[in-house]
Amino acid sequence: MSGPTLSGPTRRSLIVGGLAAAGAVVVSVPSWATPTVGRGRLPYPFTLGVASGDPAPDSVVLWTRLAPEPLAEDGLGGMPSRVVPVHWQLAEDERFRRVVRQGTVTARPEAAHSVHVEPQGLQPGREYFYRFRVGDHVSPTGRTVTAPAPHAQVAALTMAFVSCAQYEHGYFTAYRRLAEDEPDLILHLGDYLYEYAKDTYVAPGGNVRDHAGPETVTLANYRQRHAQYKTDADLQTAHATAPFVVVFDDHEVENNWADEVPEQPDPNFLARRAAAFQAYYENMPLRRSSIPRGIDMQIYRRIGWGRLATFHMLDTRQYRADQACGDGWRRDCAERLDPTRSITGAEQEAWLLDGLARSRGTWNIIGQQVFFSQRDRLAGPQGEHSMDAWDGYVASRERILRGWTRVGARNPVVLTGDVHTHWASEIKADFDDPDSATLGVELVTTSITSGGDGSDTTSSGEKIKALNPHIKFFNNQRGYVRARITPEELRADFRVLPYVTRPDAPVTTRASFVVEEGRPGLHAV
Ligand SMILES: [Fe+2]
Repeated sequence: MSGPTLSGPTRRSLIVGGLAAAGAVVVSVPSWATPTVGRGRLPYPFTLGVASGDPAPDSVVLWTRLAPEPLAEDGLGGMPSRVVPVHWQLAEDERFRRVVRQGTVTARPEAAHSVHVEPQGLQPGREYFYRFRVGDHVSPTGRTVTAPAPHAQVAALTMAFVSCAQYEHGYFTAYRRLAEDEPDLILHLGDYLYEYAKDTYVAPGGNVRDHAGPETVTLANYRQRHAQYKTDADLQTAHATAPFVVVFDDHEVENNWADEVPEQPDPNFLARRAAAFQAYYENMPLRRSSIPRGIDMQIYRRIGWGRLATFHMLDTRQYRADQACGDGWRRDCAERLDPTRSITGAEQEAWLLDGLARSRGTWNIIGQQVFFSQRDRLAGPQGEHSMDAWDGYVASRERILRGWTRVGARNPVVLTGDVHTHWASEIKADFDDPDSATLGVELVTTSITSGGDGSDTTSSGEKIKALNPHIKFFNNQRGYVRARITPEELRADFRVLPYVTRPDAPVTTRASFVVEEGRPGLHAV
């Protein structure tokens, strides 16, 4: 198994392709050139690439996982059942001439030989490069950045957000295209992988590649599935380009789970959830604060970007009430209005409102999983709404909107995934009254692949747009959203690929919207 393939002349892909030149780089750095060969020689173990995540002003998580045979059914990646020392380096330059931190960590079989390094004392708001070594095997080089200092005036941030990458539905070209945009931050809003056995979830045009292993239930299953996804060269390129901030949605465990309630009755669901969380932690660049404890895992958290932005990342799965009225799209469902029901849980709701009140950021970016704005797909007073989205938890949404108005949250922007289609929406004080105040905006990214090639539009999407005048844009192709954020405005580019069932699709911007500081609302540009 070789590392990621070089696919173009961009700087980012050259960084990832650094693997090819790794031997030469090792020779040029004496302290890095003395291999510690363990008992028995390990085959090349960096088949899953490298990643970084959760940038802070003084630290960032560096990740890799050793897996010489990534698709091994036991989920252990072909690793021996012993600890393995992993050397790491962090440098100011991509040739590692100015190494600023280095050390050795232990990859343990009980963590599927994943390693998470949190180097401290770094400079805020700057670029770094990192790599790992086991014996004389050197990993690809990753690029990462630290967050700006808390009070720093930041001129601009280019970031991207993504969701929903069903491996079988298409090639992950969108991940490579977003890497070519050279963002400094990538938010993954969930459905990083899917739990299904091969050909259980089939895209309209058919599947183009197969999931390995059965439907994921055990820890071994989830580890194997994560490893399969991470072998994708385009996904590796995205990870090696910029730090990710990840939150899970449903498919990292199973479709439409809600706290302790599975989609279908399952006495073993809590064990399944714990296994899914353990594998998720092992395979993501998360901080130690996200290490699962039994069936629980802390993933709602904040990332500050100086005075420019605060990212409030939510968890709308782990604490939610079960979907109202039996889930799905429902008419005439009184339960969805029940004030005792919550999609965030009371604790997270208070945490969000407190964070919005204290935020130093000009922009308050709320990264989360499911559609936030009202989305009615049936004319008439009752309407028809999705019970898995915030429409199924109306009181929860109203409490948060009242709260953010009360605390004077600056420039709230909700970022969303889940629905495999691009949308842009204004968030209204009363979604049934188009003349009511606009309180913020919601930008919804389409999928990386889920749903297959898609089409520019669909009749159902156009109908929803017509019935919901606060919704300004809809598109049914695959892609991601790129955003450029400055103190004056946030510009969102809805990026689309003409196909994902063949590799190497080009990318174009289907629509762009600007949000002006201090003036909630969307302006098409
Ligand atoms: Fe999805």
